[in-house]
Amino acid sequence: MPYLSVTSTRPVPLRVGLIGAGWMGAYHARSLALRIPGAELAAIADPATDAATALAAELGVAKVTAEAADLFADPEIGAVVIAGPARFHARLSIDAARAGKHVFCEKPGALTLDELAAVEAAVQEAGVHWQIGFNRRYASDFLAARRDIDAGVAGTPQLLRSLTRDPGNGSIPHAARTPQWTIFLETLIHDFDTLNWFNPGAEPVSVHVTADALVEPGFKEQGFLDTAVVAVRYSNGAIAVAEANFSALYGYDCRGEVFGSAGMVQAGRATETAARRFTAAGLAADTPRLNIELFAEAYTDELADFAAVVRARRDGTAVPDCGVELTPGLPDARRALAVALACIESAQTGAPAAVAAASPAVEVRA
Ligand SMILES: NC(=O)c1ccc[n+]([C@@H]2O[C@H](COP(=O)([O-])OP(=O)(O)OC[C@H]3O[C@@H](n4cnc5c(N)ncnc54)[C@H](O)[C@@H]3O)[C@@H](O)[C@H]2O)c1
Repeated sequence: MPYLSVTSTRPVPLRVGLIGAGWMGAYHARSLALRIPGAELAAIADPATDAATALAAELGVAKVTAEAADLFADPEIGAVVIAGPARFHARLSIDAARAGKHVFCEKPGALTLDELAAVEAAVQEAGVHWQIGFNRRYASDFLAARRDIDAGVAGTPQLLRSLTRDPGNGSIPHAARTPQWTIFLETLIHDFDTLNWFNPGAEPVSVHVTADALVEPGFKEQGFLDTAVVAVRYSNGAIAVAEANFSALYGYDCRGEVFGSAGMVQAGRATETAARRFTAAGLAADTPRLNIELFAEAYTDELADFAAVVRARRDGTAVPDCGVELTPGLPDARRALAVALACIESAQTGAPAAVAAASPAVEVRA
């Protein structure tokens, strides 16, 4: 019997190019290739072509290049995921937008507010979607907490808290190569977004930092910091604390909390599974060790959301709506970066520092 002729309603997948195939990029590559219906990993760009080629072979991706520009020039590619080093994010976002590609960019969106304003101008001019990798918003407990906050469970926010403790073994082998201010620009920036997102409608106004190199004191002289506490004051009067440390022996630990006039809302998963061991010694459980364990679903869901938003724009379908403000874009990237930059000032002076308000758009540099 001949095959019946049918009209397929299956949507055309979004073809995505990955820029930067290191630790985070490789996880995003596997999500795009294996875990996200409606997206397809079409090409990988990384100057370290050996590792990129191995990843491409594993995932059946035909195109590998050392140059991100090759992805921008490829008409088959509709979007890019930027997971290279932070210092390249702004330039890559601008070039991608100018080539008409939608952009998912790992944090931070840029290293200065002027750079981010240039990204904003390029994105606006091209009319593309730009999203930042604030993955904690997509973790089921953080998302549930934001739903509760919107429902008034905590009442008027008075105290907020967010923390990141990266997994470690008591030493930091990459301390010497870690760019200065990484703790604010690449680690605590997640916490600043959580605090901003957990305090909707309020703006961060000022910060006061206490920071040190307690895990690797030998690198403090060259500006390395591995431990920090940041007090953030918000426009609605709420007082927040963000803290980070680069070496938690028990694994990767991220938490968020809002305490207010009506109660408290908490997010943060302390155990890897729901299993518990009860013995004569007491109670024990496994803890998440790596970011790709703690946020396995969140990293996938943020890219699924990105693909859905882009496909909605491309195909004219409805934009996904989960009932809360979710998809983080340029205003969110700017607000969190402004807090991180104020932290650098406060760490240098030892005094409180003002957080810059929304910055005006500046000329896109050629
Ligand atoms: N959201 C999260 O929880 C999370 C976690 C880890 C890292 N990150 C972010 O992801 C980004 C990458 O971090 P990582 O830990 O994967 O670093 P990494 O060093 O493991 O990987 C970076 C990769 O980028 C490549 N690269 C260097 N220059 C490039 C260029 N010009 N164009 C394209 N690729 C280039 C390198 O060869 C390397 O393969 C950073 O912005 C980091 O802050 C986010």
